[in-house]
Amino acid sequence: MFDHLNAMPEDPILGLMAAFRKDPREQKIDLGVGVYQNNQGQTPVMRAVQQAEDRLIAQQLTKTYQGIAGDADYNQRVLDLLLGADHEVQTEGRTCSIQTPGGSGALRIGAEVIRRANPDARLWVGVPTWPNHIPLLGSAGFQIEQYPYYDRDRHCINFDAMLDTLKQVPAGDIVLLHGCCHNPTGADLNRQQWQQITELAQEKGFIPFIDIAYQGLGDGLDEDAYGLRLMASHLPELVIASSCSKNFGLYRERTGSTSFVCNNSERPQIVLSQAMSIARQTYSMPPAHGALLVSMILGDEILESTWHDEVNEVRHRIQSMRTLLTDGIQNNATGQDFSHIKQQKGMFSFLGISNEQLASLREDYGIYIVDSTRINLAGINSGNIGYLCESILKVLAV
Ligand SMILES: Cc1ncc(COP(=O)(O)O)c(C=O)c1O
Repeated sequence: MFDHLNAMPEDPILGLMAAFRKDPREQKIDLGVGVYQNNQGQTPVMRAVQQAEDRLIAQQLTKTYQGIAGDADYNQRVLDLLLGADHEVQTEGRTCSIQTPGGSGALRIGAEVIRRANPDARLWVGVPTWPNHIPLLGSAGFQIEQYPYYDRDRHCINFDAMLDTLKQVPAGDIVLLHGCCHNPTGADLNRQQWQQITELAQEKGFIPFIDIAYQGLGDGLDEDAYGLRLMASHLPELVIASSCSKNFGLYRERTGSTSFVCNNSERPQIVLSQAMSIARQTYSMPPAHGALLVSMILGDEILESTWHDEVNEVRHRIQSMRTLLTDGIQNNATGQDFSHIKQQKGMFSFLGISNEQLASLREDYGIYIVDSTRINLAGINSGNIGYLCESILKVLAV
């Protein structure tokens, strides 16, 4: 039967990573990678995670099954992190949350629950969006529609065009939004824009599906949740996919959540039972380790404060790399403006250079960037920033 299968095309980011590894040049730089790196170029285990892990290993008594919805304490703490413990939708009992295998699993569970609730709902995604959104959510059965998001020439959100398209979205359709640190553009909605989209959703009756994979890496843990908290205050229903991969550095532990805001306090139990039945039919139960660490960290004052410090360090490091890069290349031969990089949020931005310039960076200087020109700011450090800026300036001067 396997004779009927054709090989799938290689993921372009994995291909780029393989080419980077083979490149013998010492000064090579990988800006394509999608994970956080510290100033030494490592993706470390966070201190709070290490301490929680030591404690967990010493305390654990069993590896028996955990349950389909995962760890109850983790689920509540994630809701508190996303919405704030005293948000009215929480005190009114209008929320529920299911632990999932990473943010990707969270997106998939959210999509499947929506499909069960309304098989006719279409899913509207911004252009561009995280490339995996479309295969991941499309394969759940959604008909995918698009709304304009980023203006590559002006290096900012094309908000008027976005709003014009969203005005056409009918009641019951789903609109995918990035909670913060937009991947791949780094261009986030400001507070006024969140307000306008919330009002439009109220008026039209479409339902936001918020993907928040980088809470804390933009402006701060609470600040980054501004949009989703606002929507939760004003809209009857909301679906949220969140991930602990980036802000807890738990990538391989596959730790995420799908959270639901429902229009009354009887619904969450029903929605959760649907989410659990979908989980049961696919992977059955989520991996336990990462969620136990998160719940231990968020339930312990000292560990939580260590974690807050680390999230702040990560955010400040990324912001300082944004500033150094912008300042280092702003004064270039073509007069091209790179100030958007300094202003944008999270790990990613589009550098915004031509295909030829991108190829020259790779071939002539060993600097690896994906074709969209998305760069991971966390791939920059004090050891490579000088060479990076010099190389970009040379490429722009040709
Ligand atoms: C926008 C966005 N959503 C979701 C995810 C999925 O994260 P996870 O690794 O937890 O599945 C990512 C990961 O890169 C992402 O960038």
